[in-house]
Amino acid sequence: MIYKESDHVRLSEDESAVVFLDQSALPLKREFIETDDLKRMYDAIYLLEVRGAPCIGIFAGYCTFVRARALAQKFGQDKNSWLEELSKETKYLNSSRPTAVNLSYAIDRMMKKASSLTGEDVPVEGIVSALRDEAVKIHEEDISMCLKIAEYGLSLIKDGFGILTHCNAGPLATSRYGTALGPILLGHERGVILRVFADETRPLLQGARLTSYELDQAGVDVTLICDNMASMVMKQGKIDCCFVGCDRVAANGDTANKIGTSQVAIMAKHYGIPFYVLGPVSSIDINCKSGDDIVIEERDPDEIRSKFYANPMAPASVKCYNPAFDVTDHELISAIITDRGILYPPFTESIGSIL
Ligand code: MRU
Repeated sequence: MIYKESDHVRLSEDESAVVFLDQSALPLKREFIETDDLKRMYDAIYLLEVRGAPCIGIFAGYCTFVRARALAQKFGQDKNSWLEELSKETKYLNSSRPTAVNLSYAIDRMMKKASSLTGEDVPVEGIVSALRDEAVKIHEEDISMCLKIAEYGLSLIKDGFGILTHCNAGPLATSRYGTALGPILLGHERGVILRVFADETRPLLQGARLTSYELDQAGVDVTLICDNMASMVMKQGKIDCCFVGCDRVAANGDTANKIGTSQVAIMAKHYGIPFYVLGPVSSIDINCKSGDDIVIEERDPDEIRSKFYANPMAPASVKCYNPAFDVTDHELISAIITDRGILYPPFTESIGSIL
């Protein structure tokens, strides 16, 4: 299975750099990039070479370690200057994309570890080594959370189900099974017959380039549709449930995910189809009371006008609005499938009870 073969975000052999699969080149090219440069790390996230909320978190953990190691060579045993510089660098990295909670979650976790040890009688090399362990832990936790999510999700589907998914919340967006694609891949391994409809997901085509690629490689029956065809396939009775990922879940269950997710949820409600959000508990941000508190990333208008087209498909002067995510109202969500169980409405209560 391609998704179990290797880690697409990892440390280089000598651990001086981070290595990542460039997702922006898929499915045409499978190219790994290695860097220890802070600006290159920032660009990898901003340009969606590394993307998908949990994957960004794993990457940020490794980047923090790599930079901590490089800065240790510069600052020697001057722990305070080392920590100050690392803090500046991680703040910059954290500003690369605002919506997915996993980026700030991983960076906060790494920096808390660094600060707590800086005050103790531990040499800089000791702190750097603890940061390496913490980054590996973030990665390993993601692998086990995805497997748990896959098991819970699988309990909600039956042989013969048609499943609609939006964007990419598979192995590339996480590690190993993924979140929204986890139950599908696990079910497929266990002989459950499933038919998946993947929205292409304009403008950056994560559904076409990544989801259909991953599922096809795994041997899952996948059909690619344009985003505006979802209502049609739902009406035709081809969809039994929707599985989507999440970038940030507010305390009341409102969920930010790839732009277009909320319209899938609205259509699912119209046709009486269960709409499930899948993600780890760490994607819940209780500091956001509702979706109104979630910052939505706005991206370059040229992603709409011309990216992925041989020639621009809109006048160069036309105004384009390009929000990268939207918020699905909690009332449209049938359940949130986490690594600690399936949460049902009212979400304020079910989320409150597990946190
Ligand atoms: O802009 P992207 O490609 O990073 O957006 C990804 C999504 O919206 C995913 O559904 C989400 O990050 C969950 S990934 C398990």
